[in-house]
Amino acid sequence: MNNYNKYSKQYFLPPERCMDWAERDMITNAPVWCSVDLRDGNQSLIEPMSENVKVEFFKFLLQLGFKEIEVGFPAASETEYNFLRRLIDEKLIPDDVTIQVLTQAREHIIKKTFEAVNGAKNVIIHVYNSTSVAQREQVFKKDKTAIKQIAVDGAALLKQLSDEEGADYRFEYSPESFTGTEPEYALEVINAVLNIWQPTADSKAVINLPATVENAIPHVYAQQVEYICKNVVCRENVIISLHPHNDRGCGVAAAEMGLLAGADRIEGTLFGNGERTGNADIVTLAMNMFSQGVDPKLDFSNMPEVCAKYKSFTDMPVSSRQPYGGELVFAAFSGSHQDAIAKGMDWRVKKGIKIWNVPYLPIDPADVGRVYESDVIRINSQSGKGGVGYVLKSGYGID
Ligand code: KIV
Ligand code: ZN
Repeated sequence: MNNYNKYSKQYFLPPERCMDWAERDMITNAPVWCSVDLRDGNQSLIEPMSENVKVEFFKFLLQLGFKEIEVGFPAASETEYNFLRRLIDEKLIPDDVTIQVLTQAREHIIKKTFEAVNGAKNVIIHVYNSTSVAQREQVFKKDKTAIKQIAVDGAALLKQLSDEEGADYRFEYSPESFTGTEPEYALEVINAVLNIWQPTADSKAVINLPATVENAIPHVYAQQVEYICKNVVCRENVIISLHPHNDRGCGVAAAEMGLLAGADRIEGTLFGNGERTGNADIVTLAMNMFSQGVDPKLDFSNMPEVCAKYKSFTDMPVSSRQPYGGELVFAAFSGSHQDAIAKGMDWRVKKGIKIWNVPYLPIDPADVGRVYESDVIRINSQSGKGGVGYVLKSGYGID
């Protein structure tokens, strides 16, 4: 390829060493999950979802166990606005669920957003502006001070309108394109926003760190996240949220390393649907925790249903190789794999083993509603006697 020298790194490392996360090897608690399927996921579809489909998707996200759901950008379109009003007016939001709405840090958009959420019980108003070098120079043509002022003015207006209404909305701020922003500058903007909001233990602010475009190996994101976690003001009253996109194919890895670096919350979507290469895939993240014995606090035990609903809502396919969800991800065609699986299954039964450690199967397919007979041992020209024997024995009782 000729043009590689047209490119150079677009990220910035923090000014101090932030590698504590590298000492940790696994995630031990489920983060707060926030589904952005109905907003980031929706805005990236060839055909965005209709109001009715969004209502059905919202109900399904509740069924899966999500307690925070970004429902849209209500000031952006009539469909988004009407959908949100329908959720509120028809009382479709359970008391223990928080809806989140996105707004740019612009006065008329913020005011319209407040109008849209009127009457909802638990709300996070999510305000963002872009802080990256590229956007400052090329899009906004403003210097650092002026860009920080956009964030500060937006934050102040959220607080003012909320106080005027006597509402107890929670607030979230995203320095959009965080991964293309100098970490010291992102921190300066974040702290300026928090100084206005003055979050408390009862009303914590969410600071969301978007990898709007993923531009580095995931350990770079982990260092940037750790730097913010260590230096943000009133850390105890702040929820650090991650919003990784997947441009380098590492959205899940970035989310996992970001959690090791101290983050509390993940914004992502089912199967990673989202802008360009998508958002962090919450199914994979949750199931990765599950496979290490951690309760993910989301329920993917009926994966065939999750795949079918996802396809019907988004009109997007689930790849056959999609971790945990794909049609072929538990299938063993090759003779040696089939033989090992059959022996592993036999060993479990004979020894009464409780912990799952069957070769070639990272989890028990039955835990996500998949069936051995049709999903695991599959016969083709690569198969051997072990697999045929297993199918005969388990399916037909012939040894
Ligand atoms: O990717 C992104 O930066 C976003 C923000 C609006 C949070 O979706
Ligand atoms: Zn996004």
